[in-house]
Amino acid sequence: MKKVRIGIVLGMALLFSFLFVGDHVSGYFGDMILNSKAEKRGMPPVVFPHWYHRAEFKCKVCHPAIFEMRSGANDIDMKKIIIDGQFCGKCHNGTISWKPIDCARCHSGVPGMKTGVLEGFPK
Ligand code: HEC
Ligand code: HEC
Ligand code: HEC
Repeated sequence: MKKVRIGIVLGMALLFSFLFVGDHVSGYFGDMILNSKAEKRGMPPVVFPHWYHRAEFKCKVCHPAIFEMRSGANDIDMKKIIIDGQFCGKCHNGTISWKPIDCARCHSGVPGMKTGVLEGFPK
């Protein structure tokens, strides 16, 4: 019985350390992962902090004007972002927000993350 309780306490401590100590390198609950192409083309998955953007902008700024409101439904690549100024590049263009040149700012996931809402504990 005692061993079980210690296990639970240690487990909780571990979980909280992930929640509060973790940086943004591999995402938080509710972040969205975009990885239809990135990993196949040699880049870490994209971690999109949806809640952060939701707090900053009204939904209709992005849906459906910039992004279809379904995980994985948008065919996004770097040419569209950097050259055509579409998708993330509508804002991450050096005017509304930073330029999309610091790759790791968006490609901050770890290999194997699946497209969709990040669930479970970040690694
Ligand atoms: C800055 C742009 C932006 C804003 C603002 C935004 N979203 Fe999103 N949303 C996204 C992106 C990007 C995705 C992922 C699309 C993809 O995977 O192709 C997404 C995905 C979604 C999804 C799909 C989730 C799923 O599991 O399929 C829902 C639902 C959603 N958003 C709802 C909202 C609501 C409600 C708001 C306002 C409270 C909002 N969004 C504001 C960019 C935004
Ligand atoms: C409607 C405008 C808009 C769109 C579209 C948008 N962003 Fe952002 N994003 C912002 C703003 C504004 C910030 C806050 C930073 C700032 O003030 O420049 C931000 C912040 C971020 C951050 C927070 C971390 C950091 O280093 O600042 C990440 C990561 C990010 N965006 C990724 C993305 C990705 C990936 C996409 C496309 C899937 C995207 N954004 C689409 C406006 C946008
Ligand atoms: C503003 C956020 C953002 C930044 C910064 C960014 N990317 Fe991306 N990138 C994305 C998104 C979103 C996708 C689509 C992810 C998916 O669905 O797999 C993507 C996809 C890709 C892909 C696969 C599609 C393609 O274009 O071939 C590659 C490769 C890539 N990025 C390389 C880079 C490199 C290299 C940099 C730095 C010079 C970079 N990215 C910076 C958001 C970003």
